[in-house]
Amino acid sequence: MDMKMGRKGMGFVAALFLLAVGAGAQAPMSHEEAHQRAESLLKQMTVEEKVGQMNQASGAALPMLGGQKPDSLIVQGKVGSILWLTDVKEINRLQHLAVEKSRLHVPILFAFDVIHGYRTVFPVPLAMASSWDPSVEEQAQHFAAEDARAAGIDWTFTPMVDIARDARWGRMVEGAGEDPYLGAAMARAQVRGFQGAAIGPESILACVKHFAGYGAADGGRDYDSSYVPEELMRNVYLVPFHAAEQAGAATFMSAYMDLNDVPASGNPWLLTEVLRKDWGFKGFVVSDAFAVSSLQVHGYARDPEDAAYKAVSAGLDMDMASETFTHNLPGLVKNGKVSEAQLDAAVLPILEAKYELGLFDHPYVDESKVDAVLDRPEGLALERKIAARSMVLLKNDHATLPLSTGIRKIAVIGPLAYSTRDIEGGWTVEGLFGGASKSHPVTVLAALKERLGSGAEVSYVPGPALSRLYPSMFDQMSGKKPLPPPTEAEKADWLAKTKAAAEHADLVIAVMGEAADMSSEAASRATLTLPGIQEQMLEAAASTGKPVVLVLENGRPLNLLWASEHVPAILEAWYPGTEGGAAVADVLFGEVNPGGKLPVSWPRIAGQEPLYYNHNLTHEPEDRPGFTSRYWDISSKPLFPFGYGLSYTTFKYSDLKVSQKSIHVNGSTEVSVAVTNTGNVTGDAVAQVYIHQRYGSASRPVRQLKGFERVTLKPGETRTLTFPLGQAELSYWNPQTKAWGMEPTEFDVWAGGDSTASLHTDFSVIQ
Ligand code: BGC
Repeated sequence: MDMKMGRKGMGFVAALFLLAVGAGAQAPMSHEEAHQRAESLLKQMTVEEKVGQMNQASGAALPMLGGQKPDSLIVQGKVGSILWLTDVKEINRLQHLAVEKSRLHVPILFAFDVIHGYRTVFPVPLAMASSWDPSVEEQAQHFAAEDARAAGIDWTFTPMVDIARDARWGRMVEGAGEDPYLGAAMARAQVRGFQGAAIGPESILACVKHFAGYGAADGGRDYDSSYVPEELMRNVYLVPFHAAEQAGAATFMSAYMDLNDVPASGNPWLLTEVLRKDWGFKGFVVSDAFAVSSLQVHGYARDPEDAAYKAVSAGLDMDMASETFTHNLPGLVKNGKVSEAQLDAAVLPILEAKYELGLFDHPYVDESKVDAVLDRPEGLALERKIAARSMVLLKNDHATLPLSTGIRKIAVIGPLAYSTRDIEGGWTVEGLFGGASKSHPVTVLAALKERLGSGAEVSYVPGPALSRLYPSMFDQMSGKKPLPPPTEAEKADWLAKTKAAAEHADLVIAVMGEAADMSSEAASRATLTLPGIQEQMLEAAASTGKPVVLVLENGRPLNLLWASEHVPAILEAWYPGTEGGAAVADVLFGEVNPGGKLPVSWPRIAGQEPLYYNHNLTHEPEDRPGFTSRYWDISSKPLFPFGYGLSYTTFKYSDLKVSQKSIHVNGSTEVSVAVTNTGNVTGDAVAQVYIHQRYGSASRPVRQLKGFERVTLKPGETRTLTFPLGQAELSYWNPQTKAWGMEPTEFDVWAGGDSTASLHTDFSVIQ
């Protein structure tokens, strides 16, 4: 139900790409030509070679497999792709083996998790979604694609478009949050960023993951089962996937968990009915790592042979790392359980992608150029701009912010203020497994010191280092061990130091949140408190009466109940990336006026999760007199609503109108709303349009986002923005008819600066 972009959809990057082609860059091979060449190559392949293309071997760098080198398998044509290898020399060495020593000279597709940048690390995806500016994602991912391609990576396992309604789920940080409309916009932008207008020698393949329903894991526990009825899948969870597919995403990744008791990696409904038949997807699907062999763990497959059979039959094309296809598919073809036509259907899009990427013509990396590309200085400027654009000002009482550069005595507190590792967040290519990144991240402490110059006094009290109670598998791979919690004496000492530093200063800047390894994969939490003694440090600082600014680095909403009452200014920086500290300083000192908005509802406590604004109303209306909350011990409302974020200026929304008060089914109307900057400085507003279907064949959410635009307005400036409301926005997947459609009904419309906007109008839909 998304706007169709198709591979021809022309965005910012596409336009750049055409300019580059015009300037003499290698033109991409047409899809038709790639298809013909792939078909004729396929005809020459043996069953083993076809199965080889369906095998993604774990890279030599994969520590948990003991770093075995896949040389002999490559020479036999048994490796179609390799994941997790970033050593350029090794990439070239293995590619030479494939291209020169294997019978059919088919190049290897090298894949990696280039999630939010390569050497220049951009803000984490949740942060980029907070920009409410899809061009941010497009530019960042285009830059990352250029870096990755120069370094020999042709395929990234991004975008992650899983809807995340539960902050306990650690992987919320990797996606665009809770909303399908915002998620779809960010998904399309990322596909355009990675692939360009068409897949070619300049692009890398996007991989849309984790298909599908992964974010609905029971209890927010990563990998746990999801139970999502079809109507919720269609109306919410699948929406960004479909958008990415329509934007031309070349590949999908199947998720780890059971969806309604059928593992996603062997789920025919997902992989064949929805993806291929309903949507017409023509690319290929890779499993998540070891997910094919895991079909046995789920109790879905009898043994590895059955796992290979069930995965292929469901529509899975490539086995990531488990070698289950390699060992079992040839036998399954021999005994007639799997047909060669099934293999052909899987292999064809893999070969097409290799042709389209230009790998047959230019399989090797120019090692001499890698560092020059990865160290492009323009990346840092872009990163800093994007980081500042992604920050969300959550609170600013008494105009504590922006700060004056004339301030002379600052106390900086918190373990994250000086952590180069954490400011870039998780899933950094060079820093994965604790490796040394060459990116030289700028911390908040370093940026503040630089900004204030030698005339200012900046003291620093880090407090105890943050540590997980249970290490993640990534921590275990890198040898990182949990730290013992601080003793009572150590705690008291840190708190005394915090208080003394605050007393001596004019202002306290607390940089707090979660260490990077506390969110992302295998990083679920049962509580959402500030880890360690951070909150006590905050209390110690605030008890001095000095103004405190809390800068958050984290991958999910945290429990800020205390802070939101006692700390005058709170800036959500997420994990802002390589130039993150400089970008934080840009916002704190007012050089950049923050304009980001929350892509998730911010809970008061973990017990409210899952929490999302677009829920249905059942039984009791929330605004009924006498009705206060669904919980008796805490408000049901979020601490900060979806779409919320402050600015150093103020905005007024007015003149909300619909062009047609009554439309026919499948017709359309247009919403217009005026936005005025009513403050004294230039700033960004994100105008948001929400709808509610009053009645029909199904209960519909109290509000649904159906349009947004981020605009920059000077003081006093007004702009009138328009948003279409037509079939795409007004249809839903109807659980009674089991089909998409609009129906005769009435709609409420709200417009404003967040999901609680009160400016209202309505219109009706007639037969
Ligand atoms: C994750 C995927 C990732 C893959 C390869 C898995 O554990 O779930 O998101 O792309 O590893 O790194």
